[in-house]
Amino acid sequence: MPVDGPLLAIRDLDLRATTPRGEAHILKNIDLDIPSDGIVGVVGESGSGKSSLASALIGLLPANITHISGQILLGDTDLLALGEREKQALRGTRLAMIFQDPMTALNPLFSIERHLVDVVLRRWPGLSHAEAVKRAEAAIAAVGIADARLRLKSYPSNLSGGMRQRVMIAMALLAEPDLLIADEPTTALDATIEAQIITLLKELRTRLSGSILFISHHLGLVAQLCERICVMYGGTVVEVGTSAAIMRSPAHPYTRALLACMIDEAEADQPLAFIPGEVPDPVIPVAGCIFAPRCANTVDTCRQTRPALRDYGKDRKAACHRLEEIA
Ligand SMILES: Nc1ncnc2c1ncn2[C@@H]1O[C@H](COP(=O)(O)OP(=O)(O)OP(=O)(O)O)[C@@H](O)[C@H]1O
Ligand SMILES: [Mg+2]
Repeated sequence: MPVDGPLLAIRDLDLRATTPRGEAHILKNIDLDIPSDGIVGVVGESGSGKSSLASALIGLLPANITHISGQILLGDTDLLALGEREKQALRGTRLAMIFQDPMTALNPLFSIERHLVDVVLRRWPGLSHAEAVKRAEAAIAAVGIADARLRLKSYPSNLSGGMRQRVMIAMALLAEPDLLIADEPTTALDATIEAQIITLLKELRTRLSGSILFISHHLGLVAQLCERICVMYGGTVVEVGTSAAIMRSPAHPYTRALLACMIDEAEADQPLAFIPGEVPDPVIPVAGCIFAPRCANTVDTCRQTRPALRDYGKDRKAACHRLEEIA
């Protein structure tokens, strides 16, 4: 792997699935670099393709996927070229995932101890069981769960949603993956617990040596937590750059619209802001810019030709024909 190259380089990633209504074009020519440390946020409305991207990265795709192409390069290895067994070997070691609903990943029949010990022994196969339990206990304590030893004996159903999410984070800590993908890890939690989990993730960032891909539909949260932001819309990346630059001067009209909604949310006496129109249906082919039907800056070119993701200033890319004109 090149020393200063990204940890993960996603190139021209394309994903399609069959549906009763026709072929859904779920991800369209996704290009994204994930640096080898730090935290990248992926943000976009529901249906923009965030979870599909996560599924493609972790190599767990639904059965109706009919086409996947492009490259997902982890160092020199193209994850898309790996067999099922090789992919499985990477999961829980170099790649790990925290799901929106922890119950997807926790087995109700296994104790918390068993979950954590399994992760440790998978990662460090030579370790004794006693040492694995010790590490599990330390990890539980590190994610702020009191009475760690006692909690290890609990089962997932004995824990609250926030606690389960802490267990998932402890599992990620123990696996020490190169890339941790967290797909809406706080969406199912109430606001107070969400704030606690975000604070925990911020603290733990420094303890994880690898990178984190944090997925959320909440731009404010992503900006708080992440150094870089990737904005997705309709299965495409519309803008990518540092959080500071994107929050200060969003370039793409969609990013601007997301930011405007966020600012209005802060005004308690204002009606809730939303972006007019609907997210695109992936079954309906689009010739031009995917955001054109909802964009206030649309001209004929936008309806005819799809804008490429292109450099826009230092360390920023955006996919819009009119970046310079509307700046
Ligand atoms: N297996 C599939 N078959 C058909 N369509 C799919 C499949 N998976 C995802 N889609 C469609 O692709 C689009 C993107 O879905 P995805 O779940 O990736 O979005 P998301 O950004 O994660 O949304 P949310 O914020 O609601 O989690 C949606 O329109 C969804 O209906
Ligand atoms: Mg999702």
